[in-house]
Amino acid sequence: MVTRSPDLRKRWVCEKHHLPCPLAAPKACGLRACPMLRLRSETSLDWVHRAIGAMDQILIDHAHCEKKAASTAINLMFRYQDKPALMRPLSELAREELEHFEQVLGVISARGGVFGRQAPPP
Ligand SMILES: [Fe+2]
Repeated sequence: MVTRSPDLRKRWVCEKHHLPCPLAAPKACGLRACPMLRLRSETSLDWVHRAIGAMDQILIDHAHCEKKAASTAINLMFRYQDKPALMRPLSELAREELEHFEQVLGVISARGGVFGRQAPPP
């Protein structure tokens, strides 16, 4: 069962595990009910809670992905310099991905974390 926590603004907390529900949905503790994710199978709560427990690493990984997306857009601008129609969309994409990168940096910072190299996988 998931209930809204009075302590955490707009967050839902799993009563069983006392962790924030990633879906912010009171009836979706099993994750199968979320239509937005269109999952084909039920996600185990164990996986969900391990992911929540590794949120700092996930955010750092997310930040690296945003940075890589921006870098890829810029690389494509250099690779396809003979295609002027691609320059503006790729430039906009690079800027957008860097904005995402900065947003994730903000989340990491708000949680008291520091962006850095990723830890090697276990
Ligand atoms: Fe992005």
